[in-house]
Amino acid sequence: SRNIYVLALESSADDTCAAVVSSNRKILSNVVAHQFQDQEKWGGIHPMISTECHQKRMPGTVRMALEESGMDMDSIDGIAFTRGPGMVSCLNVGANAAKTLAAALNKPIVGVHHMQAHALTPFLTSENPPQFPFLALLASGGHTMLLLATSPVSFKMLANTADVSIGNAFDRVSRELKIPWGEASGSARIGAGPMLEKIAAKHPTSNPYSFPELPLAMQGSLGFSFGGLVSSVQRLITKLGPAATEDSATQAAIAHAFQHAAVGQLQEKLMLALRSCERRGIAVKTVVASGGVASNMYLRSCVESTMKTLGIAVQYPPISLCTDNAAMIAWASMDRFLRGDVDPYDITVKPKWDL
Ligand code: KG4
Ligand code: ZN
Repeated sequence: SRNIYVLALESSADDTCAAVVSSNRKILSNVVAHQFQDQEKWGGIHPMISTECHQKRMPGTVRMALEESGMDMDSIDGIAFTRGPGMVSCLNVGANAAKTLAAALNKPIVGVHHMQAHALTPFLTSENPPQFPFLALLASGGHTMLLLATSPVSFKMLANTADVSIGNAFDRVSRELKIPWGEASGSARIGAGPMLEKIAAKHPTSNPYSFPELPLAMQGSLGFSFGGLVSSVQRLITKLGPAATEDSATQAAIAHAFQHAAVGQLQEKLMLALRSCERRGIAVKTVVASGGVASNMYLRSCVESTMKTLGIAVQYPPISLCTDNAAMIAWASMDRFLRGDVDPYDITVKPKWDL
């Protein structure tokens, strides 16, 4: 059968995205318009500002995705959009654009689960996609979660964060330690995480500092929490005074102790999740690690060495497709378009959409 072409729109958080992808795994275009208003990643994303940005940029982003793909709407077979989870007013920008465009042109639509799309990315990008069942570890500025994928259509959320994301924790600690970033890391988009990683690598061999990996209340439970860790780091920095940020050895020691605790928590929860799968007779052979924080080399080496002892492989999609994008939304809709399992034009968004 011939290839089909899907135009997808994504606007669940702070990136306005559009892409064209074909059923034979070709990404014809993948346009992402970032919002830098939340660069500092303090309180996260402001829904109203973010919504306005999406409203302003979605039409241009769609235009650009079509131009870059060299296609016009006549050759597009279906339109996909992120149905949830996400901020309702943000989701609605992409959903309404997709639905109206589809209705006007008489094209089918499919609403996609954002997290499912993240977990399915390796099937779009890898020559060796993981076998089901596999675990997806999503560690970024927006997510900290563990998903169990048992088939292309069945997913279960095993763990989510109770407070801030791990990326957010890296960014806050970086700021507390007065680690410069932005120009220093090449692009504001990269965030403060990579600079913290660089500085942490210079830590003294015997580190005088350490932080608990997770709050007592969360021990043994499948859920992440990084708020307490960030507070512990803040308290130490306050206690040490200017030395914490001005003495480079102290700064490196704190950065490393933080990174060690944050990564330790990821590992701990990963092990818990694997054990719970094992108890239920689910033989996981692969962990797919994605999101900006998954590019951290310390994290990669810790996770890989632990997984190696268990005979579990670790895979990373390319970083450009780990972050929010519409190519993954297009890909996640493909099966449904091919089967003719499409949504009605009056479909509504699902800001809270459990797996
Ligand atoms: O997936 P991502 O690029 O985008 C969003 O979540 O929107 O993740 C960005 C986050 C930022 O918090 C950034 O500081 C963090 O990922 N990050 C890192 C590293 N690279 C990016 N954190 C730790 N180590 C890194 N190497
Ligand atoms: Zn995402």
